[in-house]
Amino acid sequence: MQPAGERPDARNPSGKAPTRSTVTLRVNGRAHTLELDHRTTLLDALREAIGLTGAKKGCDHGQCGACTVLADGRRVNSCLLLAVAHQDVRITTIEGLGDADAPHPVQEAFLDRDGFQCGYCTPGQICSAVGVLAEAAAGHPSHVTPPDDLAAEGPAELSPDEIRERMSGNLCRCGAYPRIVEAVGDVVV
Ligand code: FES
Ligand code: FES
Repeated sequence: MQPAGERPDARNPSGKAPTRSTVTLRVNGRAHTLELDHRTTLLDALREAIGLTGAKKGCDHGQCGACTVLADGRRVNSCLLLAVAHQDVRITTIEGLGDADAPHPVQEAFLDRDGFQCGYCTPGQICSAVGVLAEAAAGHPSHVTPPDDLAAEGPAELSPDEIRERMSGNLCRCGAYPRIVEAVGDVVV
């Protein structure tokens, strides 16, 4: 019972101690065993518990894509996922894709095409682009795939329209979209 005159904590209105569990997250090939409040998002676990700050918190509501990472090779908004639900899932963040000495081809393409200004959205854009390339290679269609191509087997073609559609969950406040589309198009094989 809340004492009279005291306002409940908006983040914990019940006043009960948060439930915590031990979880092992496998991030960029390394296992991290953590004891986490069940409400901890994957994004907060990566940034605050593990110290990988490449994935960014933009909206924290699944609307901007700044927090995009790969979970078992598929792109996800890590701000929408609970860390404790990712026991042994293979997580890849921007730090795990490549570095200055050995950049991932998508990272190289963003540099070559100048696909950013402030860079805040860029880790999410690059992780998302890596996911797009894998989805296209696996033949997944998108909302703008022409009906005649839906039955086609093999990799999906990534036209600029396809890239724009497939990358539409990643917002860029600087408006670097034309260069981002070019960069992703450069890596299309
Ligand atoms: Fe996750 Fe915006 S921070 S979608
Ligand atoms: Fe600034 Fe995209 S480069 S938000």
